Amino acid sequence: MTIKAVVFDAYGTLYDVQSVADVTEDAFPGYGEIITQVWRIKQLEYTWLRSLMRHYRDFFEVTRDSLAYTLSSLGLQYDDDTFARIIDKYLHLDLYPDALAALSAMKDRKLAILSNGSPDMLSALVRNSGLDSVLDAVISVDAKKIFKPAPEAYALIEEKLQVRPAEVLFISSNPWDVCGAKAFGLNVAWIERVMPEAMALACLESETLPPLTMFKILRTQMDELGALPDHRIHALAELPALVSAQRS
Ligand code: LAC
Repeated sequence: MTIKAVVFDAYGTLYDVQSVADVTEDAFPGYGEIITQVWRIKQLEYTWLRSLMRHYRDFFEVTRDSLAYTLSSLGLQYDDDTFARIIDKYLHLDLYPDALAALSAMKDRKLAILSNGSPDMLSALVRNSGLDSVLDAVISVDAKKIFKPAPEAYALIEEKLQVRPAEVLFISSNPWDVCGAKAFGLNVAWIERVMPEAMALACLESETLPPLTMFKILRTQMDELGALPDHRIHALAELPALVSAQRS
């Protein structure tokens, strides 16, 4: 089956969620890394819990709530301006350096984002990074009021792009998202940016585990959820060759 659409997860896949670390460290010197890691872990946790609770609130609210949790859990006082400055960074996350070239090389396919991000968050992020020049669609799960990995979220791809699941290659660096997309029936490529060997070495080298190492162990290794990606790659730059080779 020919791949007619290449659909990307946004946060962690096209955009580096670690790029908030400068802003969190600037706001709370010495706490930047722990805030960055706990925030992302809680943000995702809240999407899963709210989906299970059937108590949806959009990703902007979940991102705010998880930051508030993180700062409070560390006993950090903050004012509205500091909080707003940190949250604003989520609209200006660093685009991975190979993203624009990789997507531009696949312009002969439909290119889209399918993300938990709210419509306003995603349109700002895509505009601020210039990715709007190469994307055919930006799809937010907000239309279904439930977060990935719920199947209703992945069903939006067919509804919005008029392509069948077998004609789609879904790209994510988030293992839980890879498993959800595969369980739904999409072709899936996992961007494995953190190798297990590096984790093992990091554990041996340091007395205490830095928060980033703990995050990488928790959120960057393939999960045991009964679904595995069709392809494992290590960078977005590998995608154009992979997609070209998918002609049946
Ligand atoms: C996304 C992140 C949350 O949906 O994976 O873009």
